[in-house]
Amino acid sequence: MTATSQSTRQILVTSALPYANGPIHLGHMLEYIQTDIWVRFQKMRGHECHYVCADDAHGTPIMLKAQQLGITPEEMIAQTNIEHQQDFSDFGVAFDNYHSTHSDENRQLAEMIYNRLNDNGFISTKVIEQLFDPEKKMFLPDRFVKGDCPSCGSEDQNGDNCDSCGATYSPTELKNPRSVVSGATPVLKESEHYFFELPKFQNMLQEWTRSGALQEEMANKLAEWFEDGLRNWDISRDAPYFGFNIPGTTDKYFYVWLDAPIGYMGSFKNLCDKNSNIDFDAFWAKDSTAELYHFIGKDIIYFHSLFWPAVLEGAGFRKPTNVFAHGFVTVNGAKMSKSKGTFIKARTYLEHLNPEYLRYYYGAKLTSRIDDLDLNLEDFAQRVNSDLVGKVINIASRCAGFITKKFDGTLSSTISEPELMAQFIDAQDEIAQHYENRDFSKAVRQIMALADKANQYIADKEPWQLVKDPAKSDEVQDVCSVGINLFRILVTYLKPIVPNLAKQVEDFMNMELTWQSISQPVVNHKINKFKAMMQRVDMKHVEAMVTDSKDTLQATIDAPAAKKALDPNSPLAKDPISPEISFEDFSKIDLRIARIAKAEHVKGADKLLRLELDLGGESRQIFAGIKSAYQPEQLEGKLTVMVANLAPRKMRFGMSEGMVLAAGPGGEELWILNPEDGAQPGMRVK
Ligand code: MSP
Ligand code: ZN
Repeated sequence: MTATSQSTRQILVTSALPYANGPIHLGHMLEYIQTDIWVRFQKMRGHECHYVCADDAHGTPIMLKAQQLGITPEEMIAQTNIEHQQDFSDFGVAFDNYHSTHSDENRQLAEMIYNRLNDNGFISTKVIEQLFDPEKKMFLPDRFVKGDCPSCGSEDQNGDNCDSCGATYSPTELKNPRSVVSGATPVLKESEHYFFELPKFQNMLQEWTRSGALQEEMANKLAEWFEDGLRNWDISRDAPYFGFNIPGTTDKYFYVWLDAPIGYMGSFKNLCDKNSNIDFDAFWAKDSTAELYHFIGKDIIYFHSLFWPAVLEGAGFRKPTNVFAHGFVTVNGAKMSKSKGTFIKARTYLEHLNPEYLRYYYGAKLTSRIDDLDLNLEDFAQRVNSDLVGKVINIASRCAGFITKKFDGTLSSTISEPELMAQFIDAQDEIAQHYENRDFSKAVRQIMALADKANQYIADKEPWQLVKDPAKSDEVQDVCSVGINLFRILVTYLKPIVPNLAKQVEDFMNMELTWQSISQPVVNHKINKFKAMMQRVDMKHVEAMVTDSKDTLQATIDAPAAKKALDPNSPLAKDPISPEISFEDFSKIDLRIARIAKAEHVKGADKLLRLELDLGGESRQIFAGIKSAYQPEQLEGKLTVMVANLAPRKMRFGMSEGMVLAAGPGGEELWILNPEDGAQPGMRVK
């Protein structure tokens, strides 16, 4: 039995910086949950560990998206930053700092790093030819050019590869090319670009990749890239661009991927400035003895294991201790899909399900490898229910009642099963090793095997039988006290994965669950009344989440809300206006007068009424959320305006075949037309 004593390590951890032009989804969440579990584990073990992140706010897509919305990029990224941080915090992802790459710290660091690279002879310039949008007056990144595949002729293919035949090419080879931004035919135009001379770092990089324990798949990828040969990296973009000016120029900007990883430093710098106990140089100087880890997805390995270490080296900073890549999330065995409702935003998930379910499921499946991870929604529900609710929480719910009712909430003064306790305590080093290695699935497997043992013990002892015999009262207390001690240890092991459950257990146990406390039997100690800690996953909620995900195709940034991003009191901050639509989009909506032929309550629905609408010859069923305003009888015979060509939508109660329109602040003031106004069912509304 050893309480592992290691000296305190200094560890800086990052997750990749999410782009500031879209919402966080469950694919992203894999990474932030993985990193957060690892960081919480390190902190629990007493190490000095800092976890920083930021929004990745620069680049062409962000600039164009803001333009589309009619707002400034600054307004857009401020709004996104608020939403991202809320999503993360609601999932229990506890950053020590969350910043933005569009910050003063990052600008200063990016300029300093660039200047050092330049002084050290690692920057060169070259005139290159690129496609240019003559209408928008901007150079076009590959993904903003479309045309016919030069190989098979398929229409509407991307600028770099063909979906139809798989060919890869450069955008200048496309037939009939057009700019995605304006539709104009792009022309070739020359401009001078700045390059980072990556090949000069080939030896250093090869050595670096051998020095740490790189993941096997990562080592293989790198070997391939070295074999292909490294090339100079184009780090400049021409105006117009949303980013930082390159020092000494007026119209050249750092390519977003140059300043993005510097954003890790920028966020950490911002943390140091707020907290004088943390020393920036101790973590970043060339001779730093601190550990530095980047958690990333497999799609961005090149940036993190080639460009980034080379940039750091070239600018005189330390290199990462390691880069940990994970695979991609699939849902029900397939790529996340908007039409299937499996492209699930973090916010949509949170509206339906407890975040700790997902933390547990990801934790139970994560390994240290780069394999993809399938979120199978049936398996998800089943796994959470059988493990967390059925095995772990069940232990406490079987034991706590007796302690509370019969023994005034006090645990026995000795542990009657020292060997069983010892097994649970002795598992700590192995479980810690699995966490350290990011083999969370192995840690969970071991914890659940222990949970099985605890349940078996209680099933064998049957305290609910013992309690019937007054002579066995002491035994009841002993058995239940052992049960609760085993439960305490299990939840302590699970704490990095389900911190909120652990918090509830801390309240119940009247003590903090620390790694040190694992080995100390809790005896003669008063516990609190047991309360239900976690509901079982109900597939109905999972299905509702999928249904909702089918409707949230549009990205969520909305111009007016972003304009108010800095004013949290604005009503639009809560209920933002949707992205602008074109007149053409608008004219697709077919608005018709409809007569409410029938209106009735819907069993089990708080807000909905079922309406049968007469469109003047055609009848439609609609579920409308207007129950708070009207009694069904009041509505029958009245006229309303409906969207007649909305795709039918399957709701929990049946098909809804359109939508009725109502205005006003809710309550009574929802406008319904009177037949006296001269409207006729079926009439088009202009
Ligand atoms: N902005 C860059 C990272 C810059 S880091 C200096 C970026 N942003 S991202 O928003 O596209 O992705 C953020 C992280 O989420 C990346 O590590 C990415 O691999 C990860 N994931 C995005 N979609 C994912 C899945 N479907 N599954 C798992 N991880 C996913 O890349
Ligand atoms: Zn093709």
